[in-house]
Amino acid sequence: MTQTLDGTVLVTGGAGYIGSHTVRALRAAGRDVVVYDSLELGRREAVVDAPIVVGDIRDNDLVTATCNEHGVTQLVHFAAYKAVGESMETPSKYWRNNVAGSVELIEACLASGVNHVVFSSSCSVNGTPEVVPVTETAPIRPESVYAESKAMVERILHWYGQTSDLRSVSLRYFNAAGASFDGRIGEDWTHSQNLVPLAMKALLLRDRRLKVFGTDYDTPDGTCIRDYIHVADLADAHVKALEYLGTGGDTVAVNVGTGVGSSVLDVLDETARAAGEQVPYDIAPRRAGDPVSTYADPAFAEKTLGWKAQHDLAAIVDSAYAWHKSQLNDDR
Ligand SMILES: NC(=O)c1ccc[n+]([C@@H]2O[C@H](COP(=O)([O-])OP(=O)(O)OC[C@H]3O[C@@H](n4cnc5c(N)ncnc54)[C@H](O)[C@@H]3O)[C@@H](O)[C@H]2O)c1
Repeated sequence: MTQTLDGTVLVTGGAGYIGSHTVRALRAAGRDVVVYDSLELGRREAVVDAPIVVGDIRDNDLVTATCNEHGVTQLVHFAAYKAVGESMETPSKYWRNNVAGSVELIEACLASGVNHVVFSSSCSVNGTPEVVPVTETAPIRPESVYAESKAMVERILHWYGQTSDLRSVSLRYFNAAGASFDGRIGEDWTHSQNLVPLAMKALLLRDRRLKVFGTDYDTPDGTCIRDYIHVADLADAHVKALEYLGTGGDTVAVNVGTGVGSSVLDVLDETARAAGEQVPYDIAPRRAGDPVSTYADPAFAEKTLGWKAQHDLAAIVDSAYAWHKSQLNDDR
């Protein structure tokens, strides 16, 4: 192990969905971790095995103090807002938190000698892809303020790489889903707009029917196709990205998906299998701006990071179902 891999990893947004799974994966890989989260959208109890500092990424003094006190050498930066619809209604929230917040954070980290960054980007930077599977050379064409905020931070990180000794990996996640296999942590469905938690909500709460937006697309069953990736696989990609940077890897953007496209109805079929009953749903018109089909070409991730997804849609749905069922008493 290099010197860098011996230091502490600062995980912003580590009390959120993907962050909390990554913290556990890092701890399992023997890394020291400190979580930094405002708790605006995260949960303290999701941080199972690491110290947490409660604060905003724009608070330079607190970030600097955290880096110095914990011996931070590498940063994994999850903290951001992620609601596409909200980003179109209140763009300033996204410019301030996702873009300006990232700059403040990176500046404070660099001043503390932290020059390895793993950044939560998104496949949405590519907008509606012309070609699937999507490779890292696909055009960057964001279709929302949220997606633009991710594309901007990727570019900002690129330029830090040109003007300082900072090196970064931007991980372009496809659709994160699922929960930990031991049932301890999972996605909070309160704010989530993602298909798996919405299907679980419709199934387990029976308070509203799921809407399937469009069944007349040019796909085998007429519904949109996405690349669902288990959150445990996603977490593992961060461990690998830090190793890559720690062993001298250059700044890159990497697609993090399985390479398998699943339709909305595939997800609902898997959910029915896991639960033993159908998800109640209605067919609604197509939604503006939904790409028909997007899934990753995972070859570059394997080549660069030595990472490959291990879990399939069935594992995603089984773990998500077990998690949401276990939370019923809390959420009702
Ligand atoms: N969930 C997905 O499918 C998906 C897909 C692509 C990209 N992403 C990106 O991955 C990251 C994590 O997503 P998630 O699903 O875990 O979201 P999440 O909302 O569960 O976690 C985000 C965390 O960041 C914290 N946070 C937000 N702003 C902060 C600030 N200014 N200072 C400190 N903490 C702050 C929140 O309290 C929360 O705990 C985000 O950057 C998101 O844009 C997620």
